[in-house]
Amino acid sequence: MVLKEMTRPLSPALTEEHEMLLAAVRDFAGREIAPVAAEYDESSEFPIDTVRKMGEMGLMGIEMPEAYGGAGMDTLAHVLTMIEIAKADASHSTILSVNNSLYCNGILWFGTEAQKQEWIRPVASGEEIGAYSLTEPMSGSDAGNMASRAVLNEAGTHYLINGRKSWVTSAPFADRIVLFTMTAAEEKHRGITCFLIDTRGAGFSRGKTEPKLGIRASATSEIIFDNYACPVENVLGAVGGGFKIAMTVLDAGRIGIAAQSLGIAEAAYEAALDHARERQAFGAPIGSYQMIQQKIADMKTRIEAGRALIYQAILAKERALATGGRYTTEASMAKLFCSEAAAYVTDEALQIHGGMGYSKEMPLERYYRDARITRIYEGTSEIQRLVIARNELGLR
Ligand code: CAA
Repeated sequence: MVLKEMTRPLSPALTEEHEMLLAAVRDFAGREIAPVAAEYDESSEFPIDTVRKMGEMGLMGIEMPEAYGGAGMDTLAHVLTMIEIAKADASHSTILSVNNSLYCNGILWFGTEAQKQEWIRPVASGEEIGAYSLTEPMSGSDAGNMASRAVLNEAGTHYLINGRKSWVTSAPFADRIVLFTMTAAEEKHRGITCFLIDTRGAGFSRGKTEPKLGIRASATSEIIFDNYACPVENVLGAVGGGFKIAMTVLDAGRIGIAAQSLGIAEAAYEAALDHARERQAFGAPIGSYQMIQQKIADMKTRIEAGRALIYQAILAKERALATGGRYTTEASMAKLFCSEAAAYVTDEALQIHGGMGYSKEMPLERYYRDARITRIYEGTSEIQRLVIARNELGLR
């Protein structure tokens, strides 16, 4: 038993298809995204043209079956893509992640065949943009505590939805949203239901787009429901089963954010490595000094430890999907460690660059700002620690 564990391969094997995907995404990210990343960061404009191109490449629904307009690949393919896109620009990877993980997965796992056909296809193919809405102005980490409401009409045909949801990534451009709201407030988290929302419907509007510290090209806003009539056919899963859907989907999403964090960290690390080789001080490259070497060693070690945790989470997810189990702890550990590693690596990489790192003429300060959100969204570092510890201790 122990031997088997110890000899387990460190990484999932890359197939020829993975290698081809990796080469294509690397080429695309380097050619189309990296050159415009700083410009979009500065303007906060949503990069619709490159997002459409990601759709044409099949990247907006990587794990969705081809029958629903996706690329029919696996979680490793999603992770490899996230790392490469995030290395070029974290904002693009945020849009990609929400579309793939938070929007599509829930419908694939909990939807009826008709819902999968209608709601996954346009978003997985990249023609439309998907979003996920859980957070409210007065509830973030305490996700089960919601003020928004959905009430079934007398005819039993529609739910009337009212309330405000906040921090919805991609909302200003989303055509479709997976929404969590209360249908029976007295039942607390068991009174939450998931709805499939078409944003073109009457009674739906958007609040202001949030001005953000980082990932500035990924648009985030409030959304407002004012007597929005949602047909009962658009309830996803069971009435009252929304919280479980939200949590199940976040487990997968957290692997994606771990990969995003790793991509940002790798970009900063590679820039630091180049700089340490080239920059001269006191008559030698700064990389020849032990204080810089220590930073390089610690950055590299954290990146590779993060990668190992991501691979472990992928394997745990595959096992869980095959057996009906969960991979919550592994996903949270990967997200926690990689997001904190990204903070450390981007900070040290900027430090190695000195004043140049602080300048907007180099991408270091953007990596540093972009990394910050990974410790907050899809569950803060504090929530990841709570989840890991509760599961380890067998507590609820
Ligand atoms: N998978 C499946 N079910 C789960 C689960 C999981 N990972 N985690 C919990 N559950 C189930 C429990 O088994 C329990 O089920 P029962 O009703 O059968 O008892 C139920 O959910 C309630 O569980 P808890 O008692 O543990 O719930 P809690 O209220 O204590 O909260 C929490 C747990 C982990 C703190 C959760 O609220 C949480 O994850 N909070 C953070 C939310 C978050 O990540 N928000 C970010 C939103 S997305 C975003 O960032 C914006 C964006 O657009 C990217």
